[in-house]
Amino acid sequence: MPDAPRDPLVVFTPSGKRGRFPVGTPLLSAARTLGVDVDSVCGGRGICGRCQVLIAEGEFAKHGVRSGAGSVSPLSETEQRYAKRRGLPAGHRLSCSTKVQGDVVVDVPPGSQVHRQVVRKDADARVIELNPVVRLHYVEVREPDMHDPSGDLRRLYEALEREWRLTGLASDFNILGELQAALRKGEWKVTVAVHDAAQVIALWPGFHDKAYGMAVDVGSTTVAAHLCDLETGELVAAAGTMNPQIRFGEDLMSRVSYAMMNPGGALQMTAAIREALGRLAAELAREAGVAVTDILEMTLVGNPIMHHLVLGIDPVELGGAPFALAVDNALTVPASALGIGVHPNARVYVLPCIAGHVGADAAGVILAERPDRRDEITLLVDVGTNAEIVLGNRERLLACSSPTGPAFEGAQISCGQRAAPGAIERVRIDPATLEPRVKVIGSELWSDDPGFGEATARTGVTGVCGSGIIEVIAEMYLAGILTPDGVVDGALAARTDRIVADGRTFSYVLHRGDVPMKITQNDVRAIQLAKAALYAGVALLMDHLGVTRVDRIGLAGAFGSHIDVKHAMVLGMIPDCDLGRVASVGNAAGAGARIALLDATARAAIEDLVRRVEKIETAIEPRFQAHFVEAMAIPHKTAAYTELRKVVTLPAARESAPGGARGRRGRRTIST
Ligand code: FES
Repeated sequence: MPDAPRDPLVVFTPSGKRGRFPVGTPLLSAARTLGVDVDSVCGGRGICGRCQVLIAEGEFAKHGVRSGAGSVSPLSETEQRYAKRRGLPAGHRLSCSTKVQGDVVVDVPPGSQVHRQVVRKDADARVIELNPVVRLHYVEVREPDMHDPSGDLRRLYEALEREWRLTGLASDFNILGELQAALRKGEWKVTVAVHDAAQVIALWPGFHDKAYGMAVDVGSTTVAAHLCDLETGELVAAAGTMNPQIRFGEDLMSRVSYAMMNPGGALQMTAAIREALGRLAAELAREAGVAVTDILEMTLVGNPIMHHLVLGIDPVELGGAPFALAVDNALTVPASALGIGVHPNARVYVLPCIAGHVGADAAGVILAERPDRRDEITLLVDVGTNAEIVLGNRERLLACSSPTGPAFEGAQISCGQRAAPGAIERVRIDPATLEPRVKVIGSELWSDDPGFGEATARTGVTGVCGSGIIEVIAEMYLAGILTPDGVVDGALAARTDRIVADGRTFSYVLHRGDVPMKITQNDVRAIQLAKAALYAGVALLMDHLGVTRVDRIGLAGAFGSHIDVKHAMVLGMIPDCDLGRVASVGNAAGAGARIALLDATARAAIEDLVRRVEKIETAIEPRFQAHFVEAMAIPHKTAAYTELRKVVTLPAARESAPGGARGRRGRRTIST
């Protein structure tokens, strides 16, 4: 705008944008003119309170401005009304109702910025830009006029263009059925929800400021959902449930088999998960005290099989080579088409899948961790029935999946169980006495602490969960009970009654209860196979990237949150790395879903990144098998693990168990 020298100077902080405006200009209009980021839902009517600013007090030499309460109009009636109704913190002004009187410095607090950053409150705090795809706009629509006949919808669009500069709008069909009643009930004032600045998806008479979004991570075992306020980015409720598809098959492949063997089986699983999503939405809304119809947007991540089943696609093609996905790009589908009872016009944004076994959950992990923004080489691992692995930096990103099977989750292990109260989750073995100490979920005490028996009386000691299995095998190796090639050393039976003969092999008695809990040779083998598959996948990606070491490792998922990284490295699940740079990244897939929910630009970013990810198919890589065989040893047959050795003394190398497994001495070959 042309500078009028006598007009007062208005400076906005923190942006530093400035301009001269005539006395009487509302601060919100000045901000709009200068492109200062100030939020508003009600279009400057003093209803929404999103446009709050603070008037700086004092002499601002830098700007050549003396600013204070007298630089602007006194508290208006509108502000007083707002303050009475909803409260206005001391010093805060509604910028739509506050007018320029003289030179002034105006501070826009983060809560009033449209594109503010939201910091997650949980441990793995991430900063999320707030730029939701659904926005609410309050408008006053011209009343119909006999002399200027036009439809209500046309006049609604006119109002949206006039007040919000939204052009080229369309509306969902069912809006037409509600429009006339809403306009008249609201006395020609309505709030509309606009999707992607293009489509009117919801409408309420009068002022409405509730818009929520739900981010969902559909895991094969559990489903986690978060409800966020789309206007503030705040997390208002979280809920989780077991995936009801478990009744059709414990792991992913058994669910694919169920679909293959049972006509209509895929549909049954689709119905089960959709029903669970509907229940979660209702639960979240109840917990947050909001209407389920105020949920206007959803985002969803999941592995390829979960992804297909939620969308109603038979996952049978994913059960065998070439593992063709029905669709790999991101999708936006109506929630109603998925039968999820949120707002009838809510959309579900489904993150893109990467490859046949690397799903939208891996895309979520990438979005949450952004390895493409770093120079250092990041390894991201999400362990499940199939481990999803991402490796790279700003130059290249590679991904693959590795068939680890369910052993890490406790399946295939004689005393394995899910992580639940009573499950052993921590193990230490004294290398001198070979006596174990354990900790179980539900108690903070170690088994040799006084009071352990009473503390665990209610739950009992019922099995070993994934993190416990990794620790016990790593500890058995560190204590010399296991040879590097994974044989339980039978010669030690002479030293301790914890080593017992079990057919042709030996087992280690971890817990003596009503039912003794043993780690058998087969259990060790199952874990070796799983960890070798994981390591081989990582090694293959390292080959392709042309690196021999990684700079940092992020372990994603519930499993990654609970395992002890040192034990995971002793076992050789992950490659050598400075232990200080190995950490759980929490439910990164779910965090990715939340980022996509709150920040529309993140959607474009992940779609672009996924296109650029180099997909490596382990099944057709001859080197995979060679890596796999080498990785069967604990921690590894050839990798030196120099970083690990700085903090852990690994047992001296030996070839096999002296006096080892009965009748089968020396090195064993493992069939896969
Ligand atoms: S813009 Fe809504 S109160 Fe100021």
